[in-house]
Amino acid sequence: MLINTYFSPLLKEEERQFEQSITVMVDVLRASTTVCAALFNGAKEIIPTENSEQAMRIFNGLDRSIRFIGGEKNLVKHAGFDAGNSPLEYTTDKCLNKTVILTTTNGSKLFTLAKTSKQRFVASFANFSVIFQKLKSLLEENKTKEDIQNINFFCAGNNGQFSYEDTLCIGGLIYKITQELDLQFELSDSSDAAKNLFDYHQENLFEFLLNSEHSRKLIGAGFQNDLNICLAYDTFPIIPIIDGISIKKSII
Ligand code: MLT
Repeated sequence: MLINTYFSPLLKEEERQFEQSITVMVDVLRASTTVCAALFNGAKEIIPTENSEQAMRIFNGLDRSIRFIGGEKNLVKHAGFDAGNSPLEYTTDKCLNKTVILTTTNGSKLFTLAKTSKQRFVASFANFSVIFQKLKSLLEENKTKEDIQNINFFCAGNNGQFSYEDTLCIGGLIYKITQELDLQFELSDSSDAAKNLFDYHQENLFEFLLNSEHSRKLIGAGFQNDLNICLAYDTFPIIPIIDGISIKKSII
């Protein structure tokens, strides 16, 4: 089984490229964490979009009583939206039973990729342990079926560039998968690098990540409290599964 890591979502997708794969999408700061918060707090589903125009079109087609629109461009909430991209805004009183339309600078686009995968999940530190458990049980079941050949991890990154927080979250998952599962894995260089980087930083992980490029931008824009939520293990322990165009809470 090959574990591959994409440090940025800028890839040329070939048709059927992901057919034998489980794919895990990560945007720790902050779209993955926001998806976890909204679903944990009772949203019916999240529809991730490629841009704000597409988000508005979908939103306008939905009944007022069931819709909620959120997102940002370069950390700024779009005019007229119900929320920006802070997980703290996606509370039960705002999201319960709602269809949440989400558009963000990097993450929401990422969640629309790799459609041909067998299963696609959204991961973050906020749901780290349950995502690990889900991957573990899928890989153990696969011992007899052998229909999954690859795990693909995707970082949302920063406008096509590497990001520490996504890489270290993925590195942590790869570290646990390779340590705790009695299976043979082949790691791409990118996966091996992510795992080694996690191993190097794991004792002071969140202190280290508080100083990442995107953390510094969030602090500068007044979102310090978001970092307390996003850079902590298991704040929203649910499994978001991407099902067609929408992200739903998976039954564990
Ligand atoms: C993104 O999609 O780039 C983000 O989640 C940015 C953010 O809101 O912090």
